Amino acid sequence: MNVLLVNGSPHANGATATALKTIADRLHEHGVDSRLFHIGNKAIRGCIACNYCGPNRVCFLNDDPVNEGMALLRTSDALIVGSPVYYAGPNATLCAFLDRVFYRKSDAYAFKPAAAVVSCRRGGASATFDRLNKYFTIARMPVVSSQYWNSIHGNNAEEALQDKEGLQTMRTLADNMAWLLKCIAAGKAAGITPPEPEPWEGTNFIR
Ligand SMILES: Cc1cc2nc3c(=O)[nH]c(=O)nc-3n(C[C@H](O)[C@H](O)[C@H](O)COP(=O)(O)O)c2cc1C
Repeated sequence: MNVLLVNGSPHANGATATALKTIADRLHEHGVDSRLFHIGNKAIRGCIACNYCGPNRVCFLNDDPVNEGMALLRTSDALIVGSPVYYAGPNATLCAFLDRVFYRKSDAYAFKPAAAVVSCRRGGASATFDRLNKYFTIARMPVVSSQYWNSIHGNNAEEALQDKEGLQTMRTLADNMAWLLKCIAAGKAAGITPPEPEPWEGTNFIR
C-alpha cells in the first residue's frame, strides 16, 4: 500500500510539508508506505485545453512535473494533496498542476481514496479544502475524512507545529486512510470488485 503525498506549496519544508510529514509518520506506524512529491517553485502552465491527453494519456506540455506526478499517481493506491491557502483557495501553481493531472485522465484514479489538507495563517481553509475535494469527487475517488476539515494553521513549519489540533487532525486523517486502504485490500481479497461505470451520459444542460 502506497500513498502519494503531493506538496503543492512552493516551500519544500513549510507548513504544508509539516502537515504531510505528520501524515506520513502516522501512515508508517500503520504499515502503510508513502512517497512525497513536491511540485516545486518553478512555473507550471495551466491547461491549454488541446485535448491531446484524452487519446494519449499524457499531457502535451512536457517541461514541468505534471507527467511525472501523473505517473506516480497511477502507481499509487491513494492520494493526499497538500496546499497552502492563497486568497481563500489553493495556490495557482497547484491548481494548474491538478487541472492537467485530472483532465480527461481521471478514470485511471477511480476508487483510489483521496484527501486534501491545507495550511493557512488565518482564514480561507475550508473554502480551499472544498475546492480541492472537487478533483476527487468528479473522479470517483472515495474521500477520506478526519475529525475536522483538514487544516493546519501557521505561516511556516515552526508555527504549524504549535497547532496541536491541526496536527491531531492530520494524524486522524492518516488513521482513517490506513483503515480504508486495509478495508479495500480485504474486500479485494474476498472478491469484491469496484462497480463498473455506466456509459457516460454527457449532457450540456439542453441536450
Ligand atoms: C499569495 C499568498 C496568499 C495568501 N493568502 C492567504 C489567505 O487567504 N489566508 C490565510 O490565512 N493565509 C494566506 N496566506 C498565507 C499562507 O497560506 C500560509 O503562510 C501557509 O501556511 C504557507 O504554507 P507553506 O509554508 O506550506 O507554503 C497567503 C500567502 C501568500 C503567499
